[in-house]
Amino acid sequence: MPLTGPKEMFARAYKEGYAVGAFNVNNMEIIQGITAAGAAENAPLILQVSAGARKYAGQTYIVKLVEAALLECDLPIVLHLDHGADFQICKDCVDGGFTSVMIDGSHLPYEENLALTRQVVEYAHQRGVWVEAELGRLAGVEEAVSSAKSIYTDPDQAVDFVRRSGCDSLAIAIGTSHGAYKFTGEPTLDFTRLQIISDKLPGYPLVLHGASSVPQEFVAMTNKYGGKLGSARGVPEELLRKAAGMGVCKINIDSDIRLAMTAQIRKYFAENPEEFDPRGYLKPAREAVKNMVQHKIRTALGCSGKI
Ligand code: G3H
Ligand code: 13P
Ligand code: ZN
Repeated sequence: MPLTGPKEMFARAYKEGYAVGAFNVNNMEIIQGITAAGAAENAPLILQVSAGARKYAGQTYIVKLVEAALLECDLPIVLHLDHGADFQICKDCVDGGFTSVMIDGSHLPYEENLALTRQVVEYAHQRGVWVEAELGRLAGVEEAVSSAKSIYTDPDQAVDFVRRSGCDSLAIAIGTSHGAYKFTGEPTLDFTRLQIISDKLPGYPLVLHGASSVPQEFVAMTNKYGGKLGSARGVPEELLRKAAGMGVCKINIDSDIRLAMTAQIRKYFAENPEEFDPRGYLKPAREAVKNMVQHKIRTALGCSGKI
């Protein structure tokens, strides 16, 4: 099956009240772990590539690895650029075979974000590529975009932004943030705001970034084997599942992949100090990614069997 675009994927997810997982990929083991989970669950997948991933692996390697995964598993897979910072990176990914790109102008003044998004939409749509944009700011650090405090998405602005920019999906800020330290107190999301945005944009796919759950078993395992993750906390999976029933069709997960792999590798090294064959520790790390993604598909996303 060739790479697919998100259109039909999101239309069904919206109608049936679930979300598709957008998992960040950086190397072969991560791609294999995620796609093995998708195959085991018959679940659609979005594999997303950050600017950092493009720099680390190289765009050609990532695209070819994803193409190899497509030959191995018969699944609908979207190849998406995560947090494109400018027109050029979006253009490079459109030209390089991605089926979806994100232009992230969320740090810009409103009209500048709109104009930049519009420019990417014009280029991408002529080539049949989907465009995700972002309005509102997440707390924490997201590549070149940093913000000391969250600025949640304004519902009326969201309607105006979608109408005038022509973007196909919109990432909104309702209380999630990137990384492993999302909440100091009780984890909450602004569901009232989500409901208003969703009501004002009926049928329109929304996106949730910063949606890792930071499973405490991985935190404990990392700490047990010499790591230092302190009070890492994520978004509880039941909150994600609830959002998935309210117009959120794409849920972004990166930190949980990092945590699953790192916890497993730390454990492996502690238990096998003589090991120096990378296959020794990368194999269980890949398996840990698969298990985590499978769990995510069943619980937080609800997209098992939706191919
Ligand atoms: O939202 C950002 C993603 O977690 C990607 O992170 O820039 O370190 O690849 P990265
Ligand atoms: P997490 O850091 O919560 O995994 O968020 C990932 C993300 O939003 C990628 O765009
Ligand atoms: Zn993000």
